[in-house]
Amino acid sequence: MHKVTDDGPATALELSQVSHVHANGVRALDTVDLLVRRAEFLTFIGPSGCGKSTLLRIAAGLVAPSQGAVRRADEDATAFVFQSATLMPWARVAKNVALPLELAGAPATDREARVAEALARVGLSDFAQALPRELSGGMQMRASIARALVIAPRLLLMDEPFGALDEITRGRLDRELLDLWQERRFTTLFVTHSLVEAVFVSSRVLVMSPRPGRIAAELVIDEPHPRDDGFRLSARFAALCGQLQSLMLRAGAA
Ligand SMILES: Nc1ncnc2c1ncn2[C@@H]1O[C@H](COP(=O)(O)OP(=O)(O)O)[C@@H](O)[C@H]1O
Ligand SMILES: [Mg+2]
Repeated sequence: MHKVTDDGPATALELSQVSHVHANGVRALDTVDLLVRRAEFLTFIGPSGCGKSTLLRIAAGLVAPSQGAVRRADEDATAFVFQSATLMPWARVAKNVALPLELAGAPATDREARVAEALARVGLSDFAQALPRELSGGMQMRASIARALVIAPRLLLMDEPFGALDEITRGRLDRELLDLWQERRFTTLFVTHSLVEAVFVSSRVLVMSPRPGRIAAELVIDEPHPRDDGFRLSARFAALCGQLQSLMLRAGAA
């Protein structure tokens, strides 16, 4: 994997002809071509098992694709948020959030300030000394997002981050995430099963076909930001959900 040098600063990530076969012989991805612009909010939607998580892991550099090339502009400023908060259960929230900085060898004084800032940004300042089990599911995801933010990511990869939460909490976290994205302008790759969530948060949605995953269709959501409940309740929103549904049906993804 090498840095993007000749495509200018507009490109955050590029996948060329990426295919992947897992060690057990399962073909997860088939010739994926993808160009991600900086500060895009790009969402993948598709049936379970179609290779979305595999694609995100390849984009993160956690897995090398069996074929094709991956180029990332921000190798060292990539953060990953998973469906479960993956917090260390024995460690307090502040300690969990500090982990990436500790791993990077950041000085302790710097660490404290950055952890405090990240916790404040997700509304968890009062819970710095709590243990993960003392937090609700939504708060645990906020802590997980704080742990990602603490490294000031340029590329944020989120694999069904709110999929285990109730719909009301999910809607709230979607809005909070959009606020953060608008403020920090990190490039976001997001995976969800929810059509409504995809339309609400994304600047572009890619529909994946059943395994082996291919990018079957694209829907641009050119609604300006900030987006609020007015957008969610609009006829335009319903129309976009309808368009996405029909693209998914055509792709065999719904
Ligand atoms: N580490 C792995 N080893 C073997 N097979 C895997 C591995 N990870 C995923 N798979 C398989 O690859 C396919 C795609 O999986 P995944 O990328 O997790 O799909 P999705 O996230 O869209 O549900 C599935 O059939 C899954 O069982
Ligand atoms: Mg997955």
